[in-house]
Amino acid sequence: MSLKTNLHKLSEKVEKLSPAEALGFLSDLFPGKVVFSTSLGQEDQVITQLIADNNLPIHIFSLDTGRLFPETLDLIERTESKYKMRIKILYPERQSVENLVDKIGINGFYDSVENRKSCCYVRKVEPLKRALAGNSIWVTGLRAEQSANRSSMRKIEWDEGNNIIKFNPLLDWSYDQMIAYIKENKIPYNPLHDRGFVSIGCAPCTRAISTGEDARAGRWWWEESKKECGLHAR
Ligand code: ADX
Ligand code: SF4
Repeated sequence: MSLKTNLHKLSEKVEKLSPAEALGFLSDLFPGKVVFSTSLGQEDQVITQLIADNNLPIHIFSLDTGRLFPETLDLIERTESKYKMRIKILYPERQSVENLVDKIGINGFYDSVENRKSCCYVRKVEPLKRALAGNSIWVTGLRAEQSANRSSMRKIEWDEGNNIIKFNPLLDWSYDQMIAYIKENKIPYNPLHDRGFVSIGCAPCTRAISTGEDARAGRWWWEESKKECGLHAR
């Protein structure tokens, strides 16, 4: 099946399946061509557990921007030990990071949206493109509840920028449902979540939020932007 054709049919089929069934179905349909990007967030930890416990042949990778929290890096190791697997880590191109830091300064992303987007591009978007190249399905931990932009997404979507089918298995999960699943299955999670952090990205660009604040209010909090870094541009 060519990638973009029959997207509608694929979507109809997948909508009827549980996340684990859908992941199994897609990895059968596209052998060796289904990849999962984990940021080690709670959603991602649920998906990692589903892949590991069902022994699904889905390649798991994470983008280490060089500015992650130490707690996130520790969680990579804890997750690998618990599920006896390796998470492939992708790093940004050295020359591009050096050029960027020369140009905007070590924390230049605070100075303008343009600088921030350049940093996200070098540290996340370009390595993501490398990770997705040649694959057919990109699995993510996006949930509709996370933001207005994400509320209109579908479980199966065509990602024009990366020329790949994107699958968001937990799109319709609520926050409470996810937390209950994590507890029930004793899934390891980032200790920062117990200190008021909800959505966690790079350390200098993430802060804890207060009760009642939007889930993504702690990301790039100094900006009025749509709070997307370019990984999930639509
Ligand atoms: S972001 O666009 O704002 O950074 P967010 O943190 O909400 O994204 O995560 C949404 C999904 O994007 C995650 O479930 C994961 O699939 C992917 N993702 C985000 N950051 C990374 C990362 N550093 N490495 C791998 N995947 C990531
Ligand atoms: Fe750079 Fe911040 Fe984007 Fe991380 S989140 S890549 S530090 S601008």
